[in-house]
This record gives sequence, structure tokens and C-alpha cells, in this order.
Amino acid sequence: MLFDPKPKERREDLFDRDDELNRLKAGLNYPVILLLGIRRSGKSSLVKVLMNEMKDVIWIYLDLRKYEGYTYITYKYLLSEFERALNTWPKFLRELLRGIRGVVISGSGFEVRLSWGRDRVELADLFDRLSSIGEREGRRVVIVFDESQELRKLKGFNILYPLAYAYDNLRLSFIFTGSQIGMVYRFLRLKDPNSPLFGRAMFEVRVNPFTREQSIEFLKTGFREVGISVNDGVLESVYDELGGIPGWLTYYGFNYLQFNNHEEAIKRTLEYAVQLVRQEFENFLRGREEARERYYAIMGLCKSGCRWSDVKRILEAREGYRVDDKKITELLQNLVDASFLIKEGDIYRPSDPLITKAF
Ligand SMILES: Nc1ncnc2c1ncn2[C@@H]1O[C@H](COP(=O)(O)OP(=O)(O)OP(=O)(O)O)[C@@H](O)[C@H]1O
Ligand SMILES: [Mg+2]
Repeated sequence: MLFDPKPKERREDLFDRDDELNRLKAGLNYPVILLLGIRRSGKSSLVKVLMNEMKDVIWIYLDLRKYEGYTYITYKYLLSEFERALNTWPKFLRELLRGIRGVVISGSGFEVRLSWGRDRVELADLFDRLSSIGEREGRRVVIVFDESQELRKLKGFNILYPLAYAYDNLRLSFIFTGSQIGMVYRFLRLKDPNSPLFGRAMFEVRVNPFTREQSIEFLKTGFREVGISVNDGVLESVYDELGGIPGWLTYYGFNYLQFNNHEEAIKRTLEYAVQLVRQEFENFLRGREEARERYYAIMGLCKSGCRWSDVKRILEAREGYRVDDKKITELLQNLVDASFLIKEGDIYRPSDPLITKAF
């Protein structure tokens, strides 16, 4: 059902993403695939449909979204995510993990435990084994890091080394999704000559919001599924209010079905969106508290478009003294890299029309 607010898992429930799915499938022949799109554009849905369709792949899916509000994450957290994912494997595959240092397989259920203490599991060892399991089974092993920009927060451990090792030597693929698009690049440091992944080519798939036509067709299809017909004028006004982000359109449809009322559905969607965007902005501010007021001022200013010089002027007027040019650029770049703002020419504006409503 199109208006189901959970990420979709089956192709029948996924509206108009055949191109993206086909590109992802082609990408699985490469070591690293980046799946990038702003929040609620449908990345997790694409990955889940792909996982359901590609039965000849052995999947490891790690959902890092829960670390969004953390200022840092440790190696232990990362291993616990791997442990959770490996325990969803069938028994006969789990058994093939025996003998890796730090891996314990216990009980009749072959439960996998990854130690993180003195005898900790090294990711390079784990990747080595995953690659040979794939070869032995004649199936590719694909590791998905959903919301991979959270890996930037790993403290005391550089995951780029085992990733580079796997890239160069193993038969594994990695999918990195990210809704904070610039932060994914910052994490991978592809252009930094000192980075282990320097210069490695990656296969990139973008997930864009729906166009006006797609959005209206999406809504029509969703309503048709449940035998409701809504006139085109109403559907046009949904797009005018909410834009083309699949997540908001889905939530609108979900509410319409509940209250059988367009205005109520719009109202609820806007309320929910504002709440969620604010929460996400608060998460962004963790660890950046000293610039909190400045970030709010910038978002308030840029909600209907702004230039670098506007930001400079406003901040200096608010604070009553000169603010360094480099600082202005850095603040704006952080907002762009976290995908709260996008830059078009020399204008900065919100990446999602509903971000505008939150500030
Ligand atoms: N192509 C699509 N067809 C139908 N529903 C979709 C589609 N894309 C996304 N959705 C719906 O939109 C919402 C957000 O999708 P999803 O969680 O897959 O996006 P995401 O990009 O992973 O978002 P987030 O950034 O919040 O993780 C879900 O309710 C999902 O069902
Ligand atoms: Mg997601």
C-alpha cells in the first residue's frame, strides 16, 4: 500500500523508482555504491526492496539512524550492529563464521557474539571471512550502512582502513546511504590524499524528490488503491503545500485515509514535519552548541533564500562585532553538508520546503 508510512519492502509498493533500482543493481558489481538523497526521499525503501529482490545476495543491513542524536559512537556500538545483522542470517551461514578471532558461536541456535574487549574482532578479519563465504556460496556479500554519515562519529577507530582493505582485496560490496549528503563525502574523505580511500571510484545513485507530475500521480495511485477519487485541484494543492518528498506525501495520504479530510491531513502533516525537522536540527546541533544561536539565525534568514553576504551582515548586526569570513563560510558549509540548505548559484535555500516552515 502506497500510503503505508513504513519504508516499503516490496516493488509493488514502490512508486516510480525503477530507474534507481536498476542502477543500484548495476552498482552491485562495484565495491562501493553511494545511495544519496535528502531525508524521506526513499533511500531505505529502495534498499529494502533491493534486498527482497536480490535473493542471490547475502545481505548485512546496518541501520545507523539511531545514532543521529549521539555526539560520538564507539567500536563496541559498531560491532553490536554487525552482531545483530549477522544473527538474522540462516544457521548454516552463521556457522561459517567460526574461527574468526573474537567471534563466539554458541548454543544450538548458533548465536553469534562479537567480542569488543581485549580479544576484539577486527573488521578486516570479519570482512576477509565474509568475502570467502561469498565465494564459497557463489553469492555476493553486500554490507549496507544505512545513514552512513553517522560513521563519522566513530571515536578511537578508523573504519576507513578496513574499508580500503576490502575495496582493494576482497569480493564484497558496500552500500552507503546518506541523507546528509555532504557529510557522507566528509566521512569517506575521497579527495584527501592522506585518507585510506583516497581516489577510489564509487558508484553513485541519487534519489530525488518527485516532480509535480510524479507527486500527483503518486497521490492518485495511492487513492485509487483504496477506491477513493480525489479531484485534481486538491492534488495540485497538496504538492503546492508539501512539495515532492515521498515521505511527506505518504504521510499526507495516510492521514487523509484516517480522517477522510484534506485540510486535516495537511495540518497534521505540517505539524509532524515541523516537529521532525526541529528534532533533526537539534541533533545536528549536538556538539555544536557554541554556535547554536548562529545556526538558528542563519536558518531563519535563509528560509526563503539568502546569500553569503546576507548571512555575514545579519550575524554581525546581531552580535555587534565583526565575524570572520571563514567562520561564515564554515557555518553555511555545515548546513549544506547536513542537507538543511542547498546552494544554487550563490543562493542558499532549504533543501525541503517543509524545512522553511520549521524556522
Ligand atoms: N517510491 C516510493 N513509493 C512509495 N512510498 C515511498 C517511496 N519512497 C518513499 N516512500 C515512503 O516515504 C517514507 C520515507 O521513505 P524511506 O524511509 O524509505 O526514506 P529515507 O530516504 O530512507 O528516509 P530517512 O532519511 O528518513 O531515512 C516512507 O513512508 C516510505 O514508505
Ligand atoms: Mg532511511
